[in-house]
Amino acid sequence: MTARPDTTEAPWWKRGVLYQIYPRSFADSNGDGIGDLRGIINRLDHLEWLGVDGIWLSPITVSPNADWGYDVSDYCGVQPDQGTFADVDELIAAARARHIRVLLDLVPNHTSDQHEWFVDSRSSRTARLRDWYVWADPKPDGGAPNNWVSSFGGSAWTLDPRTDQYYLHNHLRSQPDLNWWNEDVRNAFDDILRFWFDRGVAGFRIDVCNIIIKDAELRDNPPATAHDSAEEQLYGQRSVYNGNRPEVHEVIQRWRRIADSYEPPRVLVGETPVEDLAKLVEYHGRANDELHLAFNFPFISAAFEAPAMRKIVEDIESLTPPDAWPAWVGSNHDMSRLATRWANDDPRKIRVALLMLFGLRGTPVIYQGDEIGLGDIAVDPPDLRDPLGVSYWPHYAGRDPMRTPMPWRHEPGGGFTDAGATPWLPFGDLAACNVASQHDDPQSALVLARDLIALRKQTPDLHSGSYESLPSPADVWVWRRGTRFVVAVNLSDRPATLDVTEGRLRIGTNRGRDGELLLGSLTLDAWEGVVTEMAY
Ligand code: GLC
Ligand code: CA
Repeated sequence: MTARPDTTEAPWWKRGVLYQIYPRSFADSNGDGIGDLRGIINRLDHLEWLGVDGIWLSPITVSPNADWGYDVSDYCGVQPDQGTFADVDELIAAARARHIRVLLDLVPNHTSDQHEWFVDSRSSRTARLRDWYVWADPKPDGGAPNNWVSSFGGSAWTLDPRTDQYYLHNHLRSQPDLNWWNEDVRNAFDDILRFWFDRGVAGFRIDVCNIIIKDAELRDNPPATAHDSAEEQLYGQRSVYNGNRPEVHEVIQRWRRIADSYEPPRVLVGETPVEDLAKLVEYHGRANDELHLAFNFPFISAAFEAPAMRKIVEDIESLTPPDAWPAWVGSNHDMSRLATRWANDDPRKIRVALLMLFGLRGTPVIYQGDEIGLGDIAVDPPDLRDPLGVSYWPHYAGRDPMRTPMPWRHEPGGGFTDAGATPWLPFGDLAACNVASQHDDPQSALVLARDLIALRKQTPDLHSGSYESLPSPADVWVWRRGTRFVVAVNLSDRPATLDVTEGRLRIGTNRGRDGELLLGSLTLDAWEGVVTEMAY
């Protein structure tokens, strides 16, 4: 009898693990100190060995790099220092041969001020593309049209003297926001999605996709209250009108229709910095017709403590519509890395954080370096590249500490670039943390991550099974996956003993315990985590 394909099987992005690449810092193939597409091709062996199913690349499109690719001046071109279209095609094909899909980054909220659309738009009040951006008259006193604050600080409006109107920018002044009420803007992005999908791209991570539509009347934001997020309190206002508008869902539905029209369907992953989890899950769509995956920022920002983490996961479990699917992220190119933020660079905590991420129900999305427990790297002022670090240092060091080059080996150039070359951002301590030295060390974070991914992949309970919190001491978090798997993490400085049914420890952060028989009780050391399989 021949095996029949299982038609009920979940799609790849639910069963698999995604891996974020920050291309400038992943691998440099030509010795200019900047990571590039060919560098990624050269390192696909690592990703295949690790077992990832998809990679998401931060922008590789043309950009003057005011915000390192997140200021796009041509959405359908390849940034020259990244390579060429031939490299993109080769990467997609070479990744596919290893069963790895390639997702790109789409930045629809704003363009670069160098984009030809904005060059036209700002040229006169009657320019053809004037309405593609958000322009508004000064207040009678000459001030900005309303009180909106940029998420990079300062007013979100800049007066353009040429036409004596203000344009809106929720980030840098050189990142003018597009006007998503304009149908031509929507059509232009439909074409951009198709352009890349036609090339074989498996999906997009969509930059700040919750804020692209603004209040049509440009009303003032209300003042922040003590209940609002830290960011809203810092800016003194709640982001009610300059983002998170109900009409954004129509745009995401439109993208989903395009993604679904392809075979295989393409995947939409949203950067959704939404504080309220009930609002966050709305980005999956009422009819599961919007984002496939929505990044959960309250989880990233949570204290690494059992009650806080468990609460967020339980809330997501109860709020997420039945057909939708969560995503779990610990690091990205904007936030302090999980090894530092959650784990305070303590190897025990790093290991238990990785085990937690791969043990939850939902797609784990790891950031390059997470697999080796790479922490934030201090970058000194002369080396700062991120405009936020440049503006706010020393109050805020910016995002360079989480964007330093991938440490492949302890040698000059770090295996990232040529021995004599200067990387665009400095390395940290190459001897202390690098891929090569962990690769064949069965006790390393890297081998732990690889083994957890492999176990998850081969175990339906772990990739697709349900989640259920189990009773535990306060600092310990224990949950069941599917019918037979139980994950337990002790997020405290004290050992803890749990009652467990008969079974076997499959993978522990202390690898010496792998395979241990469990006969009624399980003692976890401080900051120890285990994945166990119950006998029944
Ligand atoms: C997103 C990106 C970030 C960028 C910002 C503006 O938050 O992740 O890197 O600076 O959008 O595009
Ligand atoms: Ca290069």
